[in-house]
Amino acid sequence: MKTKKIFPQIDGFVHGGDYNPDQWLDRPDILEKDIEYFKEAGINCVTLGVFAWAAEEPEEGRIELDWLADIIDRLYENGIYIILATPTGARPAWLDAKYPSAMRCDEYGVRAHHGLRHNHCMQSPEFRERVKAIDTALAKRFANHPGMLMWHISNELGGYCYCDTCKKKWQEWLAEQYDHDIEKLNAAWWTGFWSHRFNDFSQIEPPYANGETALLGMNVDWRRFSTWSATDFMRFEIDTVHAVKPDVPVTTNFMELFYDYDYHYMSRFIDYISWDNYPELHRGTVSDEKTFIDRSFEHSMFRSMKPDRPFMMMESAPGLVNWRPYNKYRRPGVHKLISLQAVAAGSDTVQYFQLRKSRGASEQWHGAVIDHIGTDDTRVFREVADTGRALADIAEAAGSISKNQAAILYDWDNRWAIDNSQALSNETKAFDETCISVYAEFMKLGVEPDIISQDSDWSSYKVICAPMLYLLHDGIGEKIASFVRSGGQFLSTYFTGYVDQTTLAQLGGFPAQGLSEILGLKSEEIDTLYPEDNIKLRLLDLPVRTAEAGVPEWAAPAQPIVPYGDTACPVSCFDLNSLTGKSVAVHDYQELLREVAADTDILAVYENDYMAGTPAITRHAFGKGCAYYVAARTDQDDIRFLYEEMLENAGISYDLLPAGIEKTTRYGETSAYDFYLNCTAKEVSVPGVSGTDLLGNPLSGDTLVLPAWGAAVIKR
Ligand code: GLA
Ligand code: ZN
Repeated sequence: MKTKKIFPQIDGFVHGGDYNPDQWLDRPDILEKDIEYFKEAGINCVTLGVFAWAAEEPEEGRIELDWLADIIDRLYENGIYIILATPTGARPAWLDAKYPSAMRCDEYGVRAHHGLRHNHCMQSPEFRERVKAIDTALAKRFANHPGMLMWHISNELGGYCYCDTCKKKWQEWLAEQYDHDIEKLNAAWWTGFWSHRFNDFSQIEPPYANGETALLGMNVDWRRFSTWSATDFMRFEIDTVHAVKPDVPVTTNFMELFYDYDYHYMSRFIDYISWDNYPELHRGTVSDEKTFIDRSFEHSMFRSMKPDRPFMMMESAPGLVNWRPYNKYRRPGVHKLISLQAVAAGSDTVQYFQLRKSRGASEQWHGAVIDHIGTDDTRVFREVADTGRALADIAEAAGSISKNQAAILYDWDNRWAIDNSQALSNETKAFDETCISVYAEFMKLGVEPDIISQDSDWSSYKVICAPMLYLLHDGIGEKIASFVRSGGQFLSTYFTGYVDQTTLAQLGGFPAQGLSEILGLKSEEIDTLYPEDNIKLRLLDLPVRTAEAGVPEWAAPAQPIVPYGDTACPVSCFDLNSLTGKSVAVHDYQELLREVAADTDILAVYENDYMAGTPAITRHAFGKGCAYYVAARTDQDDIRFLYEEMLENAGISYDLLPAGIEKTTRYGETSAYDFYLNCTAKEVSVPGVSGTDLLGNPLSGDTLVLPAWGAAVIKR
């Protein structure tokens, strides 16, 4: 396989970050020293100009880029490449004073005052004109510079605007989505409810906080529209810089599990995915292992948006951040682990916010590679330099990619619809957390899943888990059917298949779109539990079929529902005897299954309360594959056997790792690289490891000993 290095110009990995020389133009001595320190820390790329608009264009039309050209040249002469940002994340005062439409309106429709950042109206034509002018000037001056690697479009795009321009765009967007037929929209949003019918698209306002918020389809569509609007703005900037020089790669920096926009959609229009990673560590209430797993999930999600190439960790904090309620320093050694975790997941960059600490304003106490003291002799600097050396040691792994066969479905509109549904308990819906907990279970088994969309290409996966797949995209039933029919292992849970793309309830039984036939069951009630409830299910010694399941009298009799495909499970079942009679606690939700097909294996039944004796976990052979259903929420460790069975059925090997160890693999042209990360503050021995550690940890026999927060990269 050819390696897929992002930047052929750079040897190995990118090590760098946001650098704001525009704040230091009166201190050439400092700027000169910075370059020396960058080289010492192994920094080979800096991101310039993220918020430099006022320095680049001090007054409308007076564009001054000589200072920037000078710095870019000097960096390049010193072997340091640049990623150049468009400066649109924050606006100069002159711009807002003259063009107030650039300033966003809040959810009451009230225009903001000038200030802060990330708060422009994405649709303001006046703003776009100024954006076009500065972006074009930057591109003309720098797009051909040999040090220029990539465009960083704006910064952390986010938020919604409720101004009149956006209202008009929203109406146009809706008209297009609903074929200019207001009755289609009325049907999809169920506007007969409370007499909220619209006669015309022009009557539809954005969901103002003091306006319409009761139409759930509208709320989800608003987020889809806002995703479109931000993407439209991003594409406007991309088109602008590409009009000058087409082939310079572009990215925009995403944020964690950011809620506002559907990143699956946005990611289609950029060349590389990049994201900003700020884990909150060393807090007694959440273990660091858990925090690292959350980050691992996010890395995997971003990687999976373009699985054929590396992604970028565009920002991370040297030392600490300054915007949390408590801003604690990372303990010694943790900086490198955070950095290598990104690389382990497929990032080809370790980048920071920020390289030099600003002297004033709101980020003056945010961690940086170079602190106010101005020396290389700080703990943080030394740890950054040490990370630079580690990246050099594993340079040959740059451009390698991950290849995973297990995946978890995670869609933004499903998140929105679940949260927006007036159902269950808002305290415990926990969709994100549920997906992460399934991910964590695979990671414990040494199997790294991808995080994908209902719309992704599924062809490389053998195991797919779809926790709480409440909102079904059109056509997903057939996609799941053909996945399972051709041998896929599929797992679904309670609260699946309840609504269609517009959030209208599915009629005729859940889960809809033929999932009932694939899973061999229908559900009827979902019950929300109080935290103090004590519900249990029993994992059966041996699977039983409907006839033996002992459905209580009052429940609807279990009816065979017509399965299509083979009836015999092709699977030699995992040994459930080892779990004999185990009772397992149910948390938050239990779903009552009303029909279970005669050929559905019942793996667990509820033990108490009114669902006692009815099926709680099932398995159904379908075509060459198998479909599992977990009708109640449990701790994932309690149902690990399901994941093990799915992996076995799929021929994917797994092995339980020591607690706190993460393992992932990247594949290069001729070698594979196994990353082992110790996400704990204690030494851990990992058995069953063979090869050479590029980071120099000793192997005694086949045991790898990792120090606290240690990492190894085993070459095979
Ligand atoms: C974000 C921004 C940066 C900076 C950091 C601070 O990621 O993109 O400009 O404000 O947060 O952590
Ligand atoms: Zn607007």
